[in-house]
Amino acid sequence: MGRTRGGEGRDDSSAVGEKEKHTCLLRMAQMLSYLMVFAAGLMIGLTTCSQINGIFVSQRQQYSSINRGLPRPQPSNCSLNQPPRILLPPRPPLDPQDQFQCMDIDNFLHPTNLIHSMSDNELFWRASLLPKKEEYPYKRKPKVAFMFLTRGPLPMLPLWERFFLGHSNFFNIYIHAPPGYHLQVSNYSAFYGRQIPSKEVSWGTVTLADAERRLLANALLDFSNERFVLLSESCIPVYNFPTVYRYLIDSFHSFVESYDDPSRYGRGRYSRSMLPDIQLRHWRKGSQWFELNRVLAVYIVSDTRYYTLFRKYCKPACYPDEHYIQTFLNMFHGNLNSNRTVTWVDWSLGGPHPATYSRANITVNFLQAIRNNGTLCRYNSDMTSVCFLFARKFDHTALEPLLGLSSQVMNF
Ligand SMILES: *[C@@H]1O[C@H](CO)[C@@H](O)[C@H](O)[C@H]1NC(C)=O
Ligand SMILES: *[C@@H]1O[C@H](CO)[C@@H](O)[C@H](O)[C@H]1NC(C)=O
Ligand SMILES: *[C@@H]1O[C@H](CO)[C@@H](O)[C@H](O)[C@H]1NC(C)=O
Ligand SMILES: *[C@@H]1O[C@H](CO)[C@@H](O)[C@H](O)[C@H]1NC(C)=O
Ligand SMILES: *[C@@H]1O[C@H](CO)[C@@H](O)[C@H](O)[C@H]1NC(C)=O
Repeated sequence: MGRTRGGEGRDDSSAVGEKEKHTCLLRMAQMLSYLMVFAAGLMIGLTTCSQINGIFVSQRQQYSSINRGLPRPQPSNCSLNQPPRILLPPRPPLDPQDQFQCMDIDNFLHPTNLIHSMSDNELFWRASLLPKKEEYPYKRKPKVAFMFLTRGPLPMLPLWERFFLGHSNFFNIYIHAPPGYHLQVSNYSAFYGRQIPSKEVSWGTVTLADAERRLLANALLDFSNERFVLLSESCIPVYNFPTVYRYLIDSFHSFVESYDDPSRYGRGRYSRSMLPDIQLRHWRKGSQWFELNRVLAVYIVSDTRYYTLFRKYCKPACYPDEHYIQTFLNMFHGNLNSNRTVTWVDWSLGGPHPATYSRANITVNFLQAIRNNGTLCRYNSDMTSVCFLFARKFDHTALEPLLGLSSQVMNF
């Protein structure tokens, strides 16, 4: 009958009505006081809670086990530049209790700090993740990852810095140097802070291929990287950045040299222990200096089955860096590969190492011959005189003449 509602009892003048009105008011007063007690309780509770929380947080290092059960303070703003809301005493950087965890899309898509604590296994797993959703939640500008596998200093650094100047939105640099080696560069260099966590490498062994895969995996963590070039400290660019960028980004194919060499330096290095997974007809050889697109890079860091066979059975005089990626691509992704390399090298002297060029060898004609030696190469569905984008090997004495000629011959 609606009588219990205060507003409707107003015109009712009967005694029963009066009584009902009275009870109703009483109930309302009661409810109000309950509410007030509840609100006060809530406020006291909240204040105490945050104080206790504050005490626990400020003494987190001593009482971290007590804190574990309490909810973490929620940062209202996910900017890593912002100091944490509660100032803590200095702490060791990798204590997971004290890490300021921030679910930030920028940091997920483009990690700026290359230092991490992942093992190779963890890193390769993470690098193998592919987005299912086709569109990116931002405007994606594809970048080229320049991956330097070095034994220490980068003698050609000034030439590379000149090459990269003004194009910072289109590339990322990754450096795998010996563990403990710290590359000395000024903080405005494109190479500053670009060393990845590394491991010891002995040339010719599987640790070299491990390092290549480690470079790929680290570079894959940045979702803007679309093409991945492996370089060494003795490599130089022979075209300017815009040419190199367009050449790689627009190519349907990757540039991994891969061919069947029937001699003992090719098929001779195959081991029948790799049967039945890898057969002699699959076996390929090629230059270590590869260029891969993102899809192939993910396949390579995701492979365990075939890599394990190389780790076990490809030992000197078999060199995994000359056979693993070359054979793996031939077996599964040959149609995505151009089967040629974009890194020029001179094997004409014979022997196990290619020619190294020094100061006296650097001339305009020599550089022009690398850039265009009269041979045409297949590029997408056309032919082009641009076959090589990079060249090796150059020693530190070559730097000065190269800097002198770079703008005249190479347009940078
Ligand atoms: C986050 O921090 C930035 C810079 O400190 C500030 O400009 C912005 O207003 C903050 N946003 C929020 C939601 O607090
Ligand atoms: C680079 O280093 C100089 C001197 O060490 C310092 O003054 C400057 O603020 C640094 N710049 C950046 C961007 O870190
Ligand atoms: C590269 O070799 C593969 C075989 O592994 C072949 O399928 C592919 O067509 C070759 N690529 C080009 C561009 O010729
Ligand atoms: C480089 O120049 C030196 C001196 O002219 C010459 O002896 C050497 O053969 C050259 N090296 C190559 C690889 O052409
Ligand atoms: C040009 O380079 C290609 C690839 O290295 C080589 O096969 C060819 O013999 C060279 N041509 C000349 C004229 O040097």
